[in-house]
Amino acid sequence: MNIFVLGGDGFCGWPTSLHLSELGNDVTIVDNLCRRRIDRELGIDSLTPISDIHERIDCWREVSGQEIQFLNIDLSSDYAAFLQALKSNHPDVIVHFGEQRSAPYSMKNSLTNRFTIQNNLVGTNNICSAIVESGIDAHLIHLGTMGVYGYGTAGLEIPEGYLNLELGGSDDMEILYPANPGSIYHMSKCQDQLFFLFYNKNYQLRITDLHQGIVWGTQTNLTRLNEKLINRFDYDGDYGTVLNRFLTQAAIGHPLTVHGTGGQTRAFIHITDTVQCIEIAMRNPPEKHARVKIYNQMTETHRVRGLAKLVAGMTGAEISFLQNPRKEADENDLEVSNECFLTEGLEPTRLAEGLLSEVIEISQRYAERIDIEKIPCASFW
Ligand SMILES: NC(=O)c1ccc[n+]([C@@H]2O[C@H](COP(=O)([O-])OP(=O)(O)OC[C@H]3O[C@@H](n4cnc5c(N)ncnc54)[C@H](O)[C@@H]3O)[C@@H](O)[C@H]2O)c1
Repeated sequence: MNIFVLGGDGFCGWPTSLHLSELGNDVTIVDNLCRRRIDRELGIDSLTPISDIHERIDCWREVSGQEIQFLNIDLSSDYAAFLQALKSNHPDVIVHFGEQRSAPYSMKNSLTNRFTIQNNLVGTNNICSAIVESGIDAHLIHLGTMGVYGYGTAGLEIPEGYLNLELGGSDDMEILYPANPGSIYHMSKCQDQLFFLFYNKNYQLRITDLHQGIVWGTQTNLTRLNEKLINRFDYDGDYGTVLNRFLTQAAIGHPLTVHGTGGQTRAFIHITDTVQCIEIAMRNPPEKHARVKIYNQMTETHRVRGLAKLVAGMTGAEISFLQNPRKEADENDLEVSNECFLTEGLEPTRLAEGLLSEVIEISQRYAERIDIEKIPCASFW
């Protein structure tokens, strides 16, 4: 198959591009490298030494004999170039990772707020509009977030995207599960869902929207093949996920800093499982006139203080509790359905089993690259 991976230079996009290429697909990465620009703007760097995109692709060619194409296009501002790329390449599948993905960054100031909205919403609309204008029949697979649901259960297991309403009249109704964004970033993902609903209803675009949990882990079997293929590992206060920040704190003997009581429950998935899920979604496209397919792409839930205990148990680190810099519930339960992927064969990598290799292979190995000043949260809301 001919596949476009939008945002293919990023944390999820790079290992996915390698996996899809290894399966024998023609892969084209479309990325404007804005994530690397943001690293420079914030004075941060991936803990792992990532090669530039051309070195990565050259190394992959040497290691695998497979070719990956690269197009440097800004999806939110260079519509003409993206449209032309679709017309010339006719991709069968477009995997859309190409958005600003940090909630704290989106809440930093009005500039980062407006950049996130401009980048993510205009980008997503451009992609849908270009598929329509080019006349291709590509399956669009988008990476959304579990955060569109908000973090609470309203007493029920969160379904995969849709909620059935019994209205008491003749017909029942199915609606998108009520959106409940907690940041400008999450707001952009909630709005993405409406674009998909609209383009599916009006132009019969075939779309799968994956509501993904927090992705943990760094390497896949393919990014491990050569150090030039290594995946990125963010640990700073804006882009570092809670688990990555705990791992880096433990590696330098700093106490693990838990916000509030650490009772926040979040959904997680390993990077290897993310890559598998994309393949599964690709193999199961929606029919032409079917509604947008929504999967919850997560495999387990954990409370933040539980994660801290897990990392402390493996590393001997201490735990310290700090005032929470964010407006969020101190304690929440989270029950999520993920039947679709499990039914279609996903075999999850569990945190309790996979975390130790993260400690040894990544955070301890690259400990000398850690800049402790960058770990604390720098955005407050
Ligand atoms: N990492 C996670 O834990 C996580 C969790 C849930 C959902 N997601 C979603 O998965 C997707 C990928 O996340 P990630 O962690 O790989 O992020 P990332 O920032 O590492 O990668 C995103 C890539 O998209 C590119 N990009 C952004 N805007 C672009 C634009 N306008 N034009 C072209 N390229 C652009 C960036 O340069 C970057 O290479 C995001 O949409 C994110 O919201 C990620």
